[in-house]
Amino acid sequence: MAREKVLTTAPADEVSKVDAALRPKLLREVVGQRKVAERLEIAVKASKKLGEPLGHIIFDGPPGLGKTTFATVLPNELGTSIQMTSGPALSKPADLLPFLTNLDEGSVLFIDEIHRMPRVVEEFIYPAMEDFRIDIVLGEGMSARTISMALKRFTLIGATTRSGMLSGPMRDRFKMHEHLEFYSVEDLATIVRVNAAKLNTPITETAAVELAQRSRGTPRVANARLYWARQYTNALHDGSLTEEITRAALDKAEVDRDGLDKNDRKYLETLIDLFAGGPTGIEALAATMNLSSDTLSDEIEPYLLREQYIIRSPRGRVAMPRAYTVLGKPAPRPKAPEGPGLFDAAAG
Ligand SMILES: Nc1ncnc2c1ncn2[C@@H]1O[C@H](COP(=O)(O)OP(=O)(O)OP(=O)(O)O)[C@@H](O)[C@H]1O
Ligand SMILES: [Mg+2]
Repeated sequence: MAREKVLTTAPADEVSKVDAALRPKLLREVVGQRKVAERLEIAVKASKKLGEPLGHIIFDGPPGLGKTTFATVLPNELGTSIQMTSGPALSKPADLLPFLTNLDEGSVLFIDEIHRMPRVVEEFIYPAMEDFRIDIVLGEGMSARTISMALKRFTLIGATTRSGMLSGPMRDRFKMHEHLEFYSVEDLATIVRVNAAKLNTPITETAAVELAQRSRGTPRVANARLYWARQYTNALHDGSLTEEITRAALDKAEVDRDGLDKNDRKYLETLIDLFAGGPTGIEALAATMNLSSDTLSDEIEPYLLREQYIIRSPRGRVAMPRAYTVLGKPAPRPKAPEGPGLFDAAAG
């Protein structure tokens, strides 16, 4: 996936292998996102007690925060199986059929990037979600007839980086909507410690915090940076991670002290140097950076917005003082707002 390339410092396929190896298997191994985890624990308990499948769940949030992790942990908790596919792989209803007919009672069907499922497939899946049946059209023209086929009762788990792109009817058919947030440094440090142990890499407390602080609030990034630091210490040092070695490893990977990576900096530099700090439309930024506007809005901007490096105004993106500071540039004097709503962060 192109997205992994943006966020990591090691080859994508190798990182995804490590990613899978480090992925929590049970809810209690999932670090952080406590409110989400607690609600899921309750839902799992109820489902077991009632002998009913778990209600359909949608997870949304920026890449690498644990949507797939939660989706794969749930069938483990329930003792059921999981089938995995993704929105772009389902171009027509027939693509969904093998998954629906292979369902075990109470099992999970996971659809990643569910916002990219075509409308015809979406409509095909509605009766499956609501009544555990599908309508199949047999034959063509005058002789065409529709048969209704019963399915095993199952749980649909959807994941999306773009909850806004989900259609209303689709959204309404999910019983639980869980939004994943960026992680605290504390939680990320815990993830780093646990995963360093899994990778047989001794790490000091301050080194774990250093990695956590420089991982964009994102477990996948923390794992990739831990993986790089481990390579670094094994190649050049004794295989363990102290604060000093970790710092040097991250400096070598051009991860700056604030945890921003090359694309984050490039974004801020483009906004400040070429567009005078904004306001600037996302399309202009994307074209100048030679990236898609989806990459900007789904992967780069959520963290920059959360950390208040930028804001979204009705007239476009605006660099905040923190963005100037991190690039070592003098911040301009604040301009008088031109009209109402300039600093309306929700618009965009
Ligand atoms: N809460 C967590 N606790 C521990 N590790 C986590 C947690 N969330 C994510 N991870 C780690 O980060 C990796 C990436 O998470 P995951 O693949 O679930 O993200 P995602 O939200 O599905 O991303 P994408 O949008 O790119 O599909 C996982 O393999 C796992 O190792
Ligand atoms: Mg995923």
